[in-house]
Amino acid sequence: MSARDIPMSQWPSTHEFVIPVADGPDTVTVTIDGREAQVPRGELLIKAAQERGTYIPRFCWHERMKPVGMCRMCLVEVEGMRGLQISCATPVTDGMVVHTQSAGVKKVQDGVLEFLLINHPLDCPVCDRGGECPLQDQTLAFGPGESRYVEEKRHWAKPIPLSELVMLDRERCIQCGRCTRFAGEIAGDPLIDFGARGAATEVITYPGEPFSSHFAGNTVQICPVGALTASPYRFRARPWDLATVETSCETCAVQCRGALQSSSNRLVRLLGVDSEPVNHGWLCDKGRYALEWVHSPNRIVHPMIRKNGELVEASWPEALDAAADGLRQVLDLHGPQSVAALGGARGTNEDQYVWTRFLKGVLRTDNVDAQLGDGLPAEVVLGLPHATIADLDRARAIVLVAPDLKQELPVLYLRVRRAAVDLDVPLIDCSSRDDGLTKYATAVLRHGPGEQAAAVEKLVHALDGATPDDDAVRRGADAISGRDGDIVVILGRPSVAEPADATVLAAAALSGLPNVRFLSALRRGNVHGALDLGLAPGFLPGRVTLEAGSAGFIDAWGAVPEARGLDATGILQAASQGKIRALVLHGCDPIADFPDRTLARDAFDKIGFHVAVGAFLTDSSRHADVVLPCSLWGEKPGSATNIEGRVQRLGQKVSPEGPVMSDWRIASELAARFGDDFDLESVEEIQDEIARVAPAYSGITARLLALARDGAVVPIAEHPDEIVVTSRPGASSDLSWEPIQVGASQEGDPASSGPTAAVEAATGAATTLQPGLAAPEGGDHIQAAAAAAEELAATVTTETGAPPELYRWDRQVEAWVPPPRDAYALRLVTGRELYDGGRIVRETPSLAPLARGCVLLVNRADRDRIGVPDGGEVKVTTARGSRVFPVRADVAIPPGVGFLAINQPGAPSHPGGMPAGPSDLIDVDAPITDLRVESIR
Ligand code: SF4
Ligand code: SF4
Ligand code: FES
Repeated sequence: MSARDIPMSQWPSTHEFVIPVADGPDTVTVTIDGREAQVPRGELLIKAAQERGTYIPRFCWHERMKPVGMCRMCLVEVEGMRGLQISCATPVTDGMVVHTQSAGVKKVQDGVLEFLLINHPLDCPVCDRGGECPLQDQTLAFGPGESRYVEEKRHWAKPIPLSELVMLDRERCIQCGRCTRFAGEIAGDPLIDFGARGAATEVITYPGEPFSSHFAGNTVQICPVGALTASPYRFRARPWDLATVETSCETCAVQCRGALQSSSNRLVRLLGVDSEPVNHGWLCDKGRYALEWVHSPNRIVHPMIRKNGELVEASWPEALDAAADGLRQVLDLHGPQSVAALGGARGTNEDQYVWTRFLKGVLRTDNVDAQLGDGLPAEVVLGLPHATIADLDRARAIVLVAPDLKQELPVLYLRVRRAAVDLDVPLIDCSSRDDGLTKYATAVLRHGPGEQAAAVEKLVHALDGATPDDDAVRRGADAISGRDGDIVVILGRPSVAEPADATVLAAAALSGLPNVRFLSALRRGNVHGALDLGLAPGFLPGRVTLEAGSAGFIDAWGAVPEARGLDATGILQAASQGKIRALVLHGCDPIADFPDRTLARDAFDKIGFHVAVGAFLTDSSRHADVVLPCSLWGEKPGSATNIEGRVQRLGQKVSPEGPVMSDWRIASELAARFGDDFDLESVEEIQDEIARVAPAYSGITARLLALARDGAVVPIAEHPDEIVVTSRPGASSDLSWEPIQVGASQEGDPASSGPTAAVEAATGAATTLQPGLAAPEGGDHIQAAAAAAEELAATVTTETGAPPELYRWDRQVEAWVPPPRDAYALRLVTGRELYDGGRIVRETPSLAPLARGCVLLVNRADRDRIGVPDGGEVKVTTARGSRVFPVRADVAIPPGVGFLAINQPGAPSHPGGMPAGPSDLIDVDAPITDLRVESIR
């Protein structure tokens, strides 16, 4: 039996604790190049050697995929075994004696490389991979000095597009199968494969089907040569021009770890970094390529003030004075309840905290919401027991009550898919249409729009012992029963055409189960940081309610709001009634994003004074009286909190191209104009203040964020084991948080240059210590890591000793039942697609063409009943009015349902307006949205 025959669920984790902690039945003794080591039983030899400082060259092996043994580059000699062994597919056994550098191994390495180079074009000077190419590096380190082949090489047309984003240069391909395996095994999008045989072998797509996977950029990153290149990066930079910082992607709330690279003060590339708890090295293509928006020519970089009806450039002091004066006038005349603020979910934690302090501590308004009526109540998100992403791997079951993760939180989709497919975790999909994960589900609890509570209640009753009359419920309950672990519920708003109550009721039903934890599927980059740090009505920073936290925050800040305020829907409704007179917009565009555009427009027309903090002029911020330009991701340091509550550091890589300010500094300047000096001069000072005053963030100091590679999950008291210090040979002795060195050579790893090797090596040869564990003997880097771990252990101990009193949701929720359906109408379901008409995609030239526009998707039977062909136009009518959309039959949509994607680009629905979309049809006061659909011929 080879390693490939072993189900992935039975593999040893490739990222387990790498320092041998004890002899025992789970470890075996292996001698590699004369050095004896204790190695987890069954670990692959190539991995065991790498983690003990011996680099075995490889092309096809990738530690996140099953081994295939295709390239033969990793051959080693194992005493007692005939011939050489492929170390990437040979598990270690007790007493194994291995030679990785013997004369026999060297001869074979020479041969393999000479063979691979027979047809390789050697166009390194013009190849995007030149300077960071594992083939180049390994040929230098392990290959022959010259080739015996003088024949003409194979030639192909070069390059050819596999998709809009990926180009293939077939001459450079070494047929390692990393890309094809990734697409099938990891992404579940088997859109590329090998075609033909022998020297004619090439990577192909299927006829008429481009490689349009949301994850295609990962194949470019893991291709060990320059055969796959990304059209947004081709010929943009050379590796020796690049400077790198480690950071998190902030395009969605998963916050995948990445290495952000710049050249000449421009962001040019984001590479995935292998973070065990978060992204396993993968990125989605939106996150990978969206950095272009930072350099959009449409950025606003100068403050503006409205004069004579026009927005005109102003100096910072003028603009800040005008903003403060306008807010002060409204406060003086109408009180704090007449002031509101929306947005903030794309800022850093530091931005969010200082804005909360300004809005709630200085202006004393609680009408503050980072969500735009499209998420879930803060009570539910903050007050449910939280799961980590890694909990998915060991869950008793995963229950999905969420939007389509493949579209909205793509790398979370990869983690759920892996749990279901490779780790055999039962997946219960509770949805009103098929989505990206439906085909992997053990049971699909199909329900009508807004009826998810009834569907999950049946499951809950079945788990309580009732006999279900529904096959899917029985299958789900049977799959869960008898397994250990927690049930992890992924909870989000499947459609904004139904009220959040529909999902909240489902959450209440599921939260009564024993051992259940929740991962929230809110989407915006740092929305969880925003809720945690108080940008939600009724809450103060650190997951405490206004009521419970008032005393502490009055001590810290001097004042807090007197009463609970309004959420986004309440704010817009109050504004349309003339009760909100001043609005601060913080990096958001409610006219585009709020589910009910009629209400949003009406509110904006009535509000007297607008301040907009942002990087672009949007349909909403065009109403502003004062515009304050702020810096974006990549232009500022800080930290952010992801869907699991993990706080990680963000890196700054470029300087803004204009006099913009960090959001937190803008809030601090405004506070100063109200006579309140926050005395905060750096992100580290803000981090330390948050750690002091925000209960859930107790202990999350600047020092901890600097030392802990994967940050920490809040509150620390509940997750002390998540704090890990990582060091590697050559790390600086104070371990001050270093980015991975893409392109840098690494001790013991002569071929580690290039993103693939360096990103692997970043975890591969690293030493990982947890605070409180005894330090092993070792070099300076291990001793430095041990000292840092000890320092943090004190923090962990302190926090564990005094767990803060945090808000817990009381599960009180009003019953809500959707009205009966009209047999002739279609019930609206909405959702986001990865590529939309939102600001990030719109300002990213490589991605903008990928948004497909708004199309009404219906079941084939409904399309035939309406009497239109695919692509024909229909008039769609609700109480809000009528809009025209093209229609298409889609197998994912059940009968009686109409699906419209939110915020898609397209022709304006009327002169000067925005493209038609579902928000033109939704009335947030209506319980559900039913569509009258008529053919127009
Ligand atoms: Fe390997 Fe790259 Fe060829 Fe794919 S394109 S088989 S990753 S060399
Ligand atoms: Fe960025 Fe989210 Fe994609 Fe990860 S899943 S790369 S965080 S957009
Ligand atoms: Fe082992 Fe390719 S055969 S790395």
